[in-house]
Amino acid sequence: MYFQGNSTGAFEDDCATLPTNIIAGLVGFFDKEHGLDLPSPWNSTESRSHLANSSILIIGGGSNCGRFATQLANLAGLGTIVVVGGKKEELRRYGATHVVDRHGGDDAVLQRVRDIVGDDLVYAFDAVNLPAGQHLAINALSNSKQGTLARLVWSRGAVEESKLHPKQAGYVLKDTLGSSHYKPEIAIPFWKHIAGYLVENKIQPLAHVVEQGLDAAKVNEVLDRYRDGKAVTQTHFHL
Ligand SMILES: NC(=O)c1ccc[n+]([C@@H]2O[C@H](COP(=O)([O-])OP(=O)(O)OC[C@H]3O[C@@H](n4cnc5c(N)ncnc54)[C@H](OP(=O)(O)O)[C@@H]3O)[C@@H](O)[C@H]2O)c1
Repeated sequence: MYFQGNSTGAFEDDCATLPTNIIAGLVGFFDKEHGLDLPSPWNSTESRSHLANSSILIIGGGSNCGRFATQLANLAGLGTIVVVGGKKEELRRYGATHVVDRHGGDDAVLQRVRDIVGDDLVYAFDAVNLPAGQHLAINALSNSKQGTLARLVWSRGAVEESKLHPKQAGYVLKDTLGSSHYKPEIAIPFWKHIAGYLVENKIQPLAHVVEQGLDAAKVNEVLDRYRDGKAVTQTHFHL
């Protein structure tokens, strides 16, 4: 079996883009304890039809976790998928219905999101921000209905309460830990379905580059780019 991903790499390298970044979204979306508790795409006993009329906000469309989260939102059947940041054309290919510029300040970005979802948003997923930046997603959640934010970064600092807008119905924060071993009840059925999802193009591997051999200087260069917050294409070192 072979599928054509969006990279020029081999099958194994395409597959290596999946863990752990897609598992972060998987737990963040489909787990009750650590995520948004959305009905899973592979469970035919759960009703998912209401999702077609629901919206989700994904912060960090330029990140690998955000790219996979966009694909998982599409797989789950959410009708409106609003992604903040990232490349419009690529994210549309993954199922985003709206891609919002992440620049210009929190107020401007929030307004762009609310212009799309109004006061109806109950599902949000932040793939990139530290807690100090998570007020953007929380403020995008509905004031009148209780919404939930699942976040990937939760161990460094706290949400800035002073920046939160009123939430009459409150909101829920879920701390996501994307590990197949930690959440086998979600991960096992997902991994059983993954070959089909790839062949049907429902999940697309992410772009990556391959380096032959262990070039320590090259490894350090990639790690330095992560450290410095610069854009990095996932790099696979073939030893
Ligand atoms: N909890 C878990 O289980 C779990 C699992 C995996 C990863 N993580 C964490 O999740 C985070 C994302 O990981 P990743 O590997 O997906 O990151 P990544 O691919 O390195 O993403 C970095 C990109 O995110 C975008 N970005 C940065 N700040 C942003 C902001 N304020 N708003 C919107 N987009 C922003 C930028 O892209 P553009 O400039 O193109 O917009 C940046 O190049 C990391 O902190 C990682 O440690 C957690």
